[in-house]
Amino acid sequence: MRALIKGGTIVNADAMTRADVLIEGEEIVLIGLDLDVEADEVIDAASKWVIPGGIDGHTHMELPFGGTFAKDTFETGTRAAAFGGTTTIIDFAVQPRGGTFRQGLDAWHEKADGKSCIDYGFHMIVSDMRDELLLEMDRLVEEGVTDFKLFTAYPGVFLSDDAAIFKALQRTTKNGGLILMHAENGVAIDAVASQMVDSGVTDPIGHGLARYPVFEGEATNRVIRLAKAAGAPVYFVHLSSKDALDEVRRARDEGLPVFAETCPQYLFLTLDDLGNGFEGAKFVCSPPLRADGHQQELWKGLIADDLQLIGTDHCPFDFHGQKEMGRGDFRKIPNGVPGVEERVDLMHDGGVVTGRITPSRFVELVSTAPARMFGLPRKGSVAVGMDADVVVYDPNRKHVLSASTHHMDVDYSCYEGRTVQGGSDVVISRGLVVVKDGAWLGHAGHGKFLRREPRGFSEATRAKLAAPAPTPVG
Ligand code: URP
Ligand code: ZN
Ligand code: ZN
Repeated sequence: MRALIKGGTIVNADAMTRADVLIEGEEIVLIGLDLDVEADEVIDAASKWVIPGGIDGHTHMELPFGGTFAKDTFETGTRAAAFGGTTTIIDFAVQPRGGTFRQGLDAWHEKADGKSCIDYGFHMIVSDMRDELLLEMDRLVEEGVTDFKLFTAYPGVFLSDDAAIFKALQRTTKNGGLILMHAENGVAIDAVASQMVDSGVTDPIGHGLARYPVFEGEATNRVIRLAKAAGAPVYFVHLSSKDALDEVRRARDEGLPVFAETCPQYLFLTLDDLGNGFEGAKFVCSPPLRADGHQQELWKGLIADDLQLIGTDHCPFDFHGQKEMGRGDFRKIPNGVPGVEERVDLMHDGGVVTGRITPSRFVELVSTAPARMFGLPRKGSVAVGMDADVVVYDPNRKHVLSASTHHMDVDYSCYEGRTVQGGSDVVISRGLVVVKDGAWLGHAGHGKFLRREPRGFSEATRAKLAAPAPTPVG
């Protein structure tokens, strides 16, 4: 099967070029101006962009959380992702508490195998970091599951203490893995949340008020210092506040290998969305949506590359039946918001259309940087020899985001009624046209598991980063 994409402008992270793209099988085989070649299918891209398929490095399909499960399956969630121009996800497998990484990984392979519509990889959520698991980390890295998410939040569920975090960081200096951190001081947050409920604040707004930005800043700084002591790189997921960003900025200015993502919800929604009585439950996620000023800082961080990429933290719970579990006590609202379908268009609309970022930076944030950060050398750019994950993107098409038209399996949209400019007209996943002009042409099981590669900090870099041997005291 040969497909020729004709007349478009290729937008990569490093350049914009007028050229045609020839796809053969699963690969991009030729790029050139006015290609005169035979093809089974010719896709007209005149006045459109040709961009690498989006890579969402942060999703939670079927995550068990707060007494229920995130609603999208690998089939529904990856189909929705594709409609939104995303052709790869990296989902979080979960180590069962008291169990092994292997058990978590097997369970996630079971959920995804034969069901995913687009390519996928896994990170591993560490539920309890026991010493005997340190060796198992190495096995996972060898199998292409190169990242481990640890938490300073959610006491009694996912929280790891400093010793466990430090040991995991140390291990990555041996096996080339990367620690991803959910950094909020969960113990302090729980204390404030209890005080709030005791004083009668039970609505969703309490969720946002209890999780102070400074609690995110404190945990971010603590983990950066632990990573420095271990001589390890570290990556902060779903960074939401100026407080945390300032810590990342400071670390990067010090020359430390500290990286971070933010998510559309922190760029487009605010603490005010958590108001309006129980309706605010739709917007309950952790870290929470922040008061106004934080958004501008996050955009600045994206422009300056103190934030390197955009993931969604897609974790959808229906408002009816699931979010409602927390009526009368915001602590019982399952944490998470949907967004895998909306990420690319929101970033185009809020980033490129407003003039904050260039088209190339947009592509870098939603595709190229995740490919680089998460070890996917065949993804993230439109170039010969790369996987044919390609989107014909219309930067001028306007459309309205709504639960009545989205493809995610969730009964509301965080962006209901918002008009965005930019949309994916044709989406190609490893050579297969999966979306064309709003029609679904893909199928469950097309997506393949991606064994990812460690980022490859050299031994020399690691040695430079490593903390000096402790000097005996006394
Ligand atoms: O609220 C959130 N973020 N839910 C998903 C789990 C996590 O912490 O990423
Ligand atoms: Zn998290
Ligand atoms: Zn998450």
